[in-house]
Amino acid sequence: MGHAKIRIVEGSDSLASAAADAIVHAANQAIDAEGRFTIALSGGSTPEKAYQLLALPERSRQLDWKRIHVFFSDERFVPHDDSRSNYALAARTFLKLVPIPSANVYAIPVEGTDVQTAAKSYSAMLARFFGISELNRPPKIDFILLGLGDDGHTASLFPGKPSLTETKAWFIGTPPGVLPPPVDRITATLPLLNTGKKVVFLVGGEKKRDIVKAVLIGKNTSYPSVHVQPEFGQLVWLLDSAAASGLKLFTGEHRIS
Ligand code: 6PG
Repeated sequence: MGHAKIRIVEGSDSLASAAADAIVHAANQAIDAEGRFTIALSGGSTPEKAYQLLALPERSRQLDWKRIHVFFSDERFVPHDDSRSNYALAARTFLKLVPIPSANVYAIPVEGTDVQTAAKSYSAMLARFFGISELNRPPKIDFILLGLGDDGHTASLFPGKPSLTETKAWFIGTPPGVLPPPVDRITATLPLLNTGKKVVFLVGGEKKRDIVKAVLIGKNTSYPSVHVQPEFGQLVWLLDSAAASGLKLFTGEHRIS
């Protein structure tokens, strides 16, 4: 298990600002170094405030949006205009409000297909974008944003589901886990997540206290999030003090192995 950097901030507003700032910083670093920035977004409720901050001029004008390419770590198998869609969340909170070319936003296909075919075509699309074969190792996405479910899931890698043991495919279809919404998902697999250059868990609120402790301290391998260990990239847990309260760590930066 590699090292993880843990950053604890005081409350939900600071958590959203810290996440938005981390994305802006990583984007400008990648654009300076390679001329583009690739990010995979997660869904759920936690990232909403951070996404909204990215749309405000204070941060939006710091970004060269035509050099930014947005993917998704997972998606619910519902239409993109469905309120449960992770694409819809990102579109509503920032993608439709910033000058990012629509061609730079790669939604996971959910129409006119089945969930496994959708996962395969998304992997093929990624392979074309990165100029590699989907039979090879996954691409190195610059920034992968993840959440943590109360059951220890991340993206749509749910405890006990076959998607957890996938070693080749980059995206896979999966039935729902125990947490709502009860719809099929398409999810990045552990090989894809663990090839990320910077993998950031964004977790906030008292409700997540116990699962954060179980994952970071207990390291119980029945929790999919425990298996997110980037091979070469950086793993960061960005927590507010409520979610981190079981770790007995003060606000600030820490490293754990
Ligand atoms: C999804 C997300 C999922 C989410 C966690 C945490 O599609 O639901 O990708 O992995 O990040 O369930 O969700 P909350 O932020 O709502 O607690």
